[in-house]
Order: sequence, then C-alpha cells, then structure tokens
Amino acid sequence: MSSSLPGFFQGTEMPDAGWWEALWPDPVGVLAAVGVKGGMDVIDLCSGDGWFTLQIAKIAGRVVAIDIDSNLLEVARHRLAENGITNCEFVAGDAYDLVKLAPRPADFVFMANAFHGVPDQLRLARAVHEVLKPGGYFAVVNWHQRPREETTILGQPRGPKTELRMSPQQTIQAIEPSGLKYAQVVEVPPYHYGAVFERRRA
Ligand SMILES: C[S@@+](CC[C@H](N)C(=O)[O-])C[C@H]1O[C@@H](n2cnc3c(N)ncnc32)[C@H](O)[C@@H]1O
Repeated sequence: MSSSLPGFFQGTEMPDAGWWEALWPDPVGVLAAVGVKGGMDVIDLCSGDGWFTLQIAKIAGRVVAIDIDSNLLEVARHRLAENGITNCEFVAGDAYDLVKLAPRPADFVFMANAFHGVPDQLRLARAVHEVLKPGGYFAVVNWHQRPREETTILGQPRGPKTELRMSPQQTIQAIEPSGLKYAQVVEVPPYHYGAVFERRRA
C-alpha cells in the first residue's frame, strides 16, 4: 500500500477505481480556472498518476511532477510518453523537500487533492513560497468541506474523510502566514474549490 510510505500525507491515496476520470472529465477547465497559462514553468505537487500533469504539460513550457510514490510517477511517465510529451521531469520525493527536489524557480505550483492531508501545512506553504518566482502562483484544489456521504460519484461516497476536509477560509488561514498572498477562490464543480495565492513581487 502506498500509504505505508514514510511521510505519506493522510487521506491522499490515489483512487484505484475508474471514478477519478468521472469526477474530473475536464482537467483543462480546472487548470484554466486556477490560472495555469501557456509557457509557464509549473510544478505539479503530489502529481499522482498524472491525470492533471498531462494537461499541464500540454499548456506549460516546462513541468516538474513530484510525488512520494515512484510507482505512480511511472504511470504518469507512461501517460505522458504515450501522448508524445517531452517537457516534463518526474521527481520522487516528499513534498516538504520541494526546494531541494525542484530548485529552479517556478511560475506556478499546482497541488490537487493532497493539501488536506499535510500535517504541517505552514511548512509546506513556506517551501512553495521559496520555489515560486516573485509574482508566481500557488493553487490548491481541495474537496469542499461537505460530509463524505454527500460527495457521491458513480453511486458511492468518495474522497477523504469528512474530518480531513477544509473550507476555503481554513485553507487561506493555513497558507497566508507563509507570506503567500491570497488571490482568489474559484469553484470547481461538483465538489471542489481552487484557492489561489501569489508570491508578492517586492
Ligand atoms: C489523491 S492523489 C492526487 C493526485 C493528483 N494531484 C490528482 O489530483 O490527480 C494524492 C497524491 O499525493 C501523493 N503524496 C502523498 N503524500 C505525499 C508526500 N508527502 N509528498 C509527495 N506526494 C505525496 C500520493 O502519492 C498521491 O499520488
């Protein structure tokens, strides 16, 4: 089980059923909503099997996909190779070590479906702050703080335990002390939101 890996964030296992694709039929729309733009240097943090990574790489100038589970990175590597994508680097490691894993300054750090499980969220946000260029963005895509029984996909409750889920306000409160400035919250239907932060320019 991946979740036995040391440092694995709670409640962030990659789903093994086909419901992920049903939940995220339009990953490009999610990226557009949070502000990923053409030519950016992007880090896909906790990238999993590459469902979002593939679409980021199609838009971005360069991508670094980081995940603690090297087996999932291999799945992602194949997904991108099958699509002829060559601008993505795959790095196995703990998200806390972001600065070491991806030292080149980034325009955008994208983190979907993982922030809720990070035990020391301020530590992670500080690491993100450090790797971002001034004016760069951090987007956290989180499940809304709704009871798990209500977030059904293909007829079953899905996603992290109810008690792990964070409201947009809680996410903002967890991240702003790092120095990253809150920019916006966007809705990502049916069950998610994206909270976007900016590294100050000066
Ligand atoms: C629910 S999956 C989401 C994957 C992808 N972001 C997506 O939305 O399709 C969460 C990912 O976080 C990874 N993960 C868990 N703990 C981690 C850590 N400490 N550092 C880096 N990745 C981690 C897991 O291996 C898993 O692939």
